[in-house]
Amino acid sequence: MGSLKKEEEMGQIAEEPKDAILYVNGVRRVLPDGFAHFTLLEYLRDVGLTGTKLGCGEGGCGACTVMISLYDRKMKKCMHYAVNACLTPLYSVEGMHVITVEGVGNHKRGLHPIQESLARSHGSQCGFCTPGFIMSLHALLRSSETPPTEEKIEESLAGNLCRCTGYRPIVDAFRVFSKTNDALYSDISSLSLQEGEFICPSTGKPCSCGSKTVNDVVTDDQSICSTRYKPLSYSEVDGSTYTDKELIFPPELLRRKLSPLNLSGLGGLKWYRPLTIKDLLELKEKYPTAKLLVGNTEVGVEMRLKRIPYQVLISVAHVPELNILNVKDDGIEIGAAVRLTELLNLFREVVTQRPAYETSACKAFIEQLKWFAGTQIRNVASVGGNVCTASPISDLNPLWMATRAKFLIINCNGNIRTTLAENFFLGYRKVDLNSNEILLSIFLPWTRPFEYVKEFKQAHRRDDDIAIVNAGMRVYLEEKGEEWVVSDASVAFGGVAPLSLCAIKTNEFLIGKEWNQNVLQGALNVLPADIVLKEDAPGGMVEFRRSLTLSFFFKFFLWVSHQIEENKSIKESVPLSHLSAINSFHRPPLVASQDYEIRKHGTSVGSPEVHLSARLQVTGEAEYTDDTPMPPNSLHAALVLSKKPHARILSIDDLSAKSSPGFAGIFFAKDVPGSNKIGPVVLDEELFASEFVTCVGQVIGIVVADTHENAKLAAGKVHVEYEELPAILSIEEAVSAKSFHPNSQKFMRKGDVDLCFQSDQCEKIIEGRVEVGGQEHFYLETHSSLVWTMDCGNEVHMISSTQAPQKNQKYVSHVLGLPMSKVVCKTKRIGGGFGGKETRSGFIAAAAAVPSYLMNRPVKLTLDRDIDMITSGQRHSFLGKYKVGFTKKGKALALDLEIYNNAGNSLDLSLAILERAMFHSDNVYEIPNVRIFGSVCFTNFPSNTAFRGFGGPQGMLIAENWIHRIALELKKSPEEIREINFQGEGSILHYGQQLEHCTLAQVWNELKVSCDFLKVREEVDEFNLHNRWKKRGIAMVPTKFGISFTTKFMNQAGALVNVYTDGTVLVSHGGVEMGQGLHTKVAQVAASAFNIPLSSVFISETSTDKVPNASPTAASASSDMYAAAALDACEQIKARMEPIASQRNFGSFAELVSACYMERIDLSAHGFYITPDIGFDWSTGKGKPFSYYTYGAAFAEVEIDTLTGDFHTRTANVFMDLGYSLNPAIDVGQVEGAFIQGLGWVALEELKWGDASHKWIRPGCLYTCGPGSYKIPSLNDIPFKFNVSLLKGNPNVKAIHSSKAVGEPPFFMASSVFFAIKDAILAARAETGHTGWFPLDNPATPERIRMSCLDEFTAPFISSDFHPKLSV
Ligand SMILES: Cc1cc2nc3c(=O)[nH]c(=O)nc-3n(C[C@H](O)[C@H](O)[C@H](O)COP(=O)(O)OP(=O)(O)OC[C@H]3O[C@@H](n4cnc5c(N)ncnc54)[C@H](O)[C@@H]3O)c2cc1C
Ligand code: FES
Ligand code: FES
Repeated sequence: MGSLKKEEEMGQIAEEPKDAILYVNGVRRVLPDGFAHFTLLEYLRDVGLTGTKLGCGEGGCGACTVMISLYDRKMKKCMHYAVNACLTPLYSVEGMHVITVEGVGNHKRGLHPIQESLARSHGSQCGFCTPGFIMSLHALLRSSETPPTEEKIEESLAGNLCRCTGYRPIVDAFRVFSKTNDALYSDISSLSLQEGEFICPSTGKPCSCGSKTVNDVVTDDQSICSTRYKPLSYSEVDGSTYTDKELIFPPELLRRKLSPLNLSGLGGLKWYRPLTIKDLLELKEKYPTAKLLVGNTEVGVEMRLKRIPYQVLISVAHVPELNILNVKDDGIEIGAAVRLTELLNLFREVVTQRPAYETSACKAFIEQLKWFAGTQIRNVASVGGNVCTASPISDLNPLWMATRAKFLIINCNGNIRTTLAENFFLGYRKVDLNSNEILLSIFLPWTRPFEYVKEFKQAHRRDDDIAIVNAGMRVYLEEKGEEWVVSDASVAFGGVAPLSLCAIKTNEFLIGKEWNQNVLQGALNVLPADIVLKEDAPGGMVEFRRSLTLSFFFKFFLWVSHQIEENKSIKESVPLSHLSAINSFHRPPLVASQDYEIRKHGTSVGSPEVHLSARLQVTGEAEYTDDTPMPPNSLHAALVLSKKPHARILSIDDLSAKSSPGFAGIFFAKDVPGSNKIGPVVLDEELFASEFVTCVGQVIGIVVADTHENAKLAAGKVHVEYEELPAILSIEEAVSAKSFHPNSQKFMRKGDVDLCFQSDQCEKIIEGRVEVGGQEHFYLETHSSLVWTMDCGNEVHMISSTQAPQKNQKYVSHVLGLPMSKVVCKTKRIGGGFGGKETRSGFIAAAAAVPSYLMNRPVKLTLDRDIDMITSGQRHSFLGKYKVGFTKKGKALALDLEIYNNAGNSLDLSLAILERAMFHSDNVYEIPNVRIFGSVCFTNFPSNTAFRGFGGPQGMLIAENWIHRIALELKKSPEEIREINFQGEGSILHYGQQLEHCTLAQVWNELKVSCDFLKVREEVDEFNLHNRWKKRGIAMVPTKFGISFTTKFMNQAGALVNVYTDGTVLVSHGGVEMGQGLHTKVAQVAASAFNIPLSSVFISETSTDKVPNASPTAASASSDMYAAAALDACEQIKARMEPIASQRNFGSFAELVSACYMERIDLSAHGFYITPDIGFDWSTGKGKPFSYYTYGAAFAEVEIDTLTGDFHTRTANVFMDLGYSLNPAIDVGQVEGAFIQGLGWVALEELKWGDASHKWIRPGCLYTCGPGSYKIPSLNDIPFKFNVSLLKGNPNVKAIHSSKAVGEPPFFMASSVFFAIKDAILAARAETGHTGWFPLDNPATPERIRMSCLDEFTAPFISSDFHPKLSV
């Protein structure tokens, strides 16, 4: 795509370049020497192109995606590809064209159709990930000669993470650019379509929505599919087609030849770009320890995250001999610098051209490369880089080993030697290369008839994740009479040793044997001897990893047998039910629907309006804290952090930090001008640790320097001596040591639990425990604050990424000893918060304020992803111990519950979180007798904090665990037990609140009908009967979420409304826009109040000097409260205007306002709102903590691979009662986003801490501290079918315009996936005679799923009560 015709013609004339140059968005830029240490991302952001975001710095999130274009002289065409700017060395793009999101379109020039479509489809919430998504699709479209398929589009987004949307709207926005293949959708044939109909991208069903535009008049009941966008033009600007405005490849770069580069960087770093093998070998001889670079995806991570100071870098990406791709008679020759995308393309071509038997290895590589990283990494990462890194979990090395590949190695004298891949790997990241040698190329031989190669990989997440275990397996069979005999074999594994491992004993065993059940059994017996993994082996999951090796071999055996069977006869054919072990995973394009009604109120309320900032977010023009231009004289800060979980600080040596480049200052506890004691509820934290540290990652001091890199460098040089003290590293340890936060024990009671247990009413009693895993917020924008002083420190101002500007203001005034009236905090928008920026942003701002105040210089503190994850706390892990009495029918009669949460080293909000867990411990179940005891555990971890649901999901998950167990005890379906126990209208809860307007039964019944539960149950059972190694499971789960802060005084809100004489309205309120659409909803309410269009209302930012004393934006209640406060202000102004308005008819609102102004009427008002009629008394344990409840129910169907633990969600239907939605499009976005975030919590995201369960991690340290090791859901993890429905016709009398709160309630709906997984596991266990209840912790990762499916491949390693380790 794009208008690039002339490029090819012009490419003939090649010019010798003079300067090192780069084009960015069509603008020529000369690259000065001295920047070899710079990434492209740093450069772009430094020159003001801040649309490209830093989300992780390790290639794991895609927020930094840009498009690189270069002219390929060999192919005579321009190549365009997406890359991660955070891992791209600046000089590596010399002579190329970089297009960033700003170069694609902007709100003045016009939006590109990709941007327009994403904005209109509600695909941008917080917007931080948005530029990355835009650039991934843009690069795909530019590089595709014909429109890509939907599958290709979804595939191209594997390297982009979004934490807000749940991906569905992004897919819907982008699929309009695809070549639609109707047959891909369900079983609807395009032939059955009526005229004017096509397959709707939203619903997957025939409809005529494509003929409508978003401007169509909305009706009362409409689905979002009618808002489909047509990607035609920049029509809203001047009607020209967008290809006319696409930036062309700069003609200068077409004429210009690449030249060798010899440049330098900080600290004497040398950067070379040789263009011939001769020059490369000369450089290698001169610098034997030089690092060779192609994609920099390994070296970049080593230098930036592991801080390995390489001195000489040689970019070999453009050396022709390293870029060969020759298809020969005996195999393929692959240059070491060939990029993985190129390799994949070649393999795909080759399998269509060569005889099938020759390409068995190629097919295995194709499959493996499909799941190798994301597109951006594959576009730059090289084959040689992967081989020579020699990672023990390399996905390709076991395959090179198994396929008899040969490595060609060249030394500095030009001599070439060859070695077999299986002999190349010597130890942990050690290979058979001398310092004067490099890898030249790889030779992959064709496979022979009856030679079979297969790849295997199991990771935490299917897409863009490194393997837990992977493998390459090959057998070469010969037909001897009726038998097939193994003539040669090679089995190699990754992830089970410090290097890619050849299973030598197994290979020896296989050769010469007949291919039958005996060889399978024999190999399964021998294989464990090849895999030696100690109990505390790095990476953990030892039992899982060992059993995976057997599972993989079993799958290989079946696959080979099946391959033979397809052409020839084999004695023992593969039973049909066993084919389930070898059917590979295929993800069909997403099918989704959103069903809601529109209840309009006035001009705007009730309309599915687009997020007010969406059009700025899709162009990268929306500014976040780190994008704010730094004032002159600014400094960057980095934190000095504790490395011990519990210790006395003996001494701090900061001498070398002080002599570090760019150093400007260092500050510790003694330097804090005001109080060093901080905390949101009680002051039990220190801003800078003074005498003791109580967790790894605790802040000891702060360093400021001229650049962020220099600040981090200096902070790393501070040496702290510790005297180590005993640490408490789990809830169990805390309970045993009675390590609780003071005054944090809570009780709730209803009825008489003991009496009930003793009575004969309780026909059965069960006891058990539930471990509930934590979760990292993983907002895409990390914590950031920019602080500056005015009048030499008389005033302090800051811009912060926070959900609670007022808390930041309070913290800063407190640590500086200034009155709050002299401290202002502003927040325009934040790139996601989810609770993680409710209290934990306070210490970031306070820490940055100290040097800013003391030095009178602006200071910015932006946390790197790993530091953010290590220091700022997560969702609390919980431990629940329950005893439940119930009848034979399944009616729960008594619940005795103890719950503990892991607060970490300070109280923060942990008590309120525990309380909410206690409030929600009934989920939706009527229990006559309840006793709940809760306690907040002090542990030596960073303080855990608020996270969407605020303890509610943990309490409800414990409840659903015992409900599920009752069902199994009684051999009934969990859904039946749920229904028997449902609360209803008038139910009195265990804390005394009575349910009013309860819609639980309604949402449940509507869901049950819509998902056809009983029919699906039958289908699933049928599937399970016929499939031994894949099982399906289903579940329906309800929820009831209490709305209000449970701390009464926090239920207050203020807003300031200013009406201007041109008829526009500026609203300021105390809530923060973090993607949830709060500003949009509040603006809609104001627009309807004044009866003006939404476009006349603007919300600029949240600021403590406009609306004071605001509660944090949290508890789902912000729309309820701030919209009500804004409405109050609007009503006041309207009342003042009324006398004028009633005098005559005004042509417009502006005319009326002007008339009021002339009459000296105050057109500004402060509105205020308090949630009425709530309150709870802990002394009695009774009251009304919640204003009302949001109800919902969800259905999920999953499929698991019982041999590997892999799973996917086939269907998820979510039904929510959101009253009369203020903005149904935004609410659907919240439901989808919360569900996918919840899916991460229940099935994907595991925090691994250095504790007694994980001895291979240093005590108290977080191992999973970045996207490389911590896996939030990616696009590939969302349900194949994803349907969201909002209950119709149910106004909520308790909130503004009859709406309901939405932010947190749908989060727990994802537990339907968890219980569906459990249902599938039950079917698997039944195959081996294991029936009845078993424990399953969240997240239900592949490890937990697989190790619960007990069978002959787990038996050698675990007993039937095995319980995988979890940090709790
Ligand atoms: C987000 C992310 C996801 C990833 N996912 C996966 C995955 O799924 N599976 C997987 O296996 N890996 C994965 N990796 C690892 C990595 O991307 C690959 O190993 C990649 O192939 C390395 O290639 P490169 O060109 O970027 O290497 P570089 O970083 O450029 O170089 C790596 C090393 O190879 C050496 N080297 C390069 N070429 C030569 C040569 N010709 N001769 C001698 N030495 C040479 C360099 O000196 C250096 O030590 C991932 C990495 C990231 C950052
Ligand atoms: S910031 Fe580059 S991939 Fe995350
Ligand atoms: S919109 Fe994607 S991370 Fe927020």
